[in-house]
Amino acid sequence: KMARQFFVGGNFKMNGVKESITSIVKNLNAAKLDSTTEVVISPPALYLTLTRELADPKIGVAAQNVFDKPNGAFTGEISVEQLADSNINWVVIGHSERRVILKETDEFIARKTKAAIEGGLSVIFCIGETLEEREANKTIDVVTRQLNAAAKELSKEQWDKVVIAYEPVWAIGTGKVATTEQAQEVHAAIRQWLGASVSAEAQANVRIIYGGSVSEKNCRELAQKEDVDGFLVGGASLKPAFVDIINARI
Ligand code: G3P
Repeated sequence: KMARQFFVGGNFKMNGVKESITSIVKNLNAAKLDSTTEVVISPPALYLTLTRELADPKIGVAAQNVFDKPNGAFTGEISVEQLADSNINWVVIGHSERRVILKETDEFIARKTKAAIEGGLSVIFCIGETLEEREANKTIDVVTRQLNAAAKELSKEQWDKVVIAYEPVWAIGTGKVATTEQAQEVHAAIRQWLGASVSAEAQANVRIIYGGSVSEKNCRELAQKEDVDGFLVGGASLKPAFVDIINARI
């Protein structure tokens, strides 16, 4: 675990306008952040360039989505090249809100991941089961299916550009955080999958972060778990408490 740099992402989702995003970024710039933690924030697309200009260079910026084709007649979409050209080096792909609400498939998500990495971006690749799937004991099947789709598209080396975010859908925005044992159990299964389906290097080095109702109250206990390498934070990333989550290990 020591070898893997702790990673905390802030997913603003469809929240914020110029004024509030400016103040969030300025607060982060001024805060004392654990220098061993990698921090990446993800504002809505319209504010990516504003955020990149304002944020301290040590803070990464991620788009919340990208398209799988390089250019062309795809109204409303944004390309990998356009993100890279705007100095946006990260992208969140496969968030459950896009899987569930926008009906994105495993295959589409995998193609976008491939396109993003080929275009030089790093990817926060989101997976996770619904409550129904958990209750039917399908959690590991579901995350394995989601990962297998990506493994079909990516070369083994390309996994070093991926951070896997395990976000159980029932824990997102609900205040119902997974227990540390529930998170660790799935993270360990994902790590095992990396060893079996990608490589020993990926098993040792790919970061697996947890998302779903992470707060300044529950982050410390989660951060201690062997296979929890950080967090993807939604609601709390809009608040000053985000700093406490970034600093969960100090
Ligand atoms: O991507 C982060 C996310 O889905 C978790 O959201 O609001 O439960 O922290 P939240």
